[in-house]
Amino acid sequence: MIGPMGRGYVLAPSILAADFLALGEAVKECESAGADWLHIDVMDGRFVPNLTMGPAVVEACRRATSLPLDVHLMVHEPGHLLGAFAAAGADSLTVHQEAVAHLHQTIEAIHQLGLRAGMALNPGTPAATLTAVAPMLDLILMMTVNPGFGGQDFIPSVLTKVAQVREWQSQGLTRARIQVDGGIDRETAPRAAEAGAEIFVAGVSVFQHPMGITQGVHAIQSALQAIPVQE
Ligand code: DX5
Ligand code: ZN
Repeated sequence: MIGPMGRGYVLAPSILAADFLALGEAVKECESAGADWLHIDVMDGRFVPNLTMGPAVVEACRRATSLPLDVHLMVHEPGHLLGAFAAAGADSLTVHQEAVAHLHQTIEAIHQLGLRAGMALNPGTPAATLTAVAPMLDLILMMTVNPGFGGQDFIPSVLTKVAQVREWQSQGLTRARIQVDGGIDRETAPRAAEAGAEIFVAGVSVFQHPMGITQGVHAIQSALQAIPVQE
């Protein structure tokens, strides 16, 4: 389930930062460079101020790559859309704790579609809001920026929450993998990994890397592989 990148880390480039006119080529380059998943940011103009893409883009990516498609729904009450994203080829659906009234029901609905279920938390939302559903989750996504736009600065204080969920894992309270999203690059990815992050979403640092997408992927992978082994 977790990709092949060294030490079990997963790199998930976010296509939000890609050139949409050349999306197919960009996605294929991520795959050939060795990215593990592809992250697709869906924004509804309500839960977050920005408006991005829907199931049609997921379906187009599905035709361009065999990478798992990790769909991040920044959408107010996305329950009615889950089936459409599943049919489009999503492999995981992550909803926001702040956007969903019935967390348990939504996670069950995602599982019934046969997909991995994730719950995302904004930087200001405590990890403790997920304790009741933590045993059900496959992914816990810690936003390391406020959601809505790519290219923002990483918020280091979120790492305290990453470490908290890492502790839940070691206590057997959750089997969810910890994902970080926002401002991830070769400097911040290792810091997040040291706190316990396992899945790294990266937009600008991959798709707008000055030397190209392949170098963007490799820069983060090398930085993660260079972390000294602990214990
Ligand atoms: C932000 C999105 C992120 C974003 C990350 O709302 O959820 O996935 O695309 O972009 P960068 O890596 O550019 O901060
Ligand atoms: Zn995202």
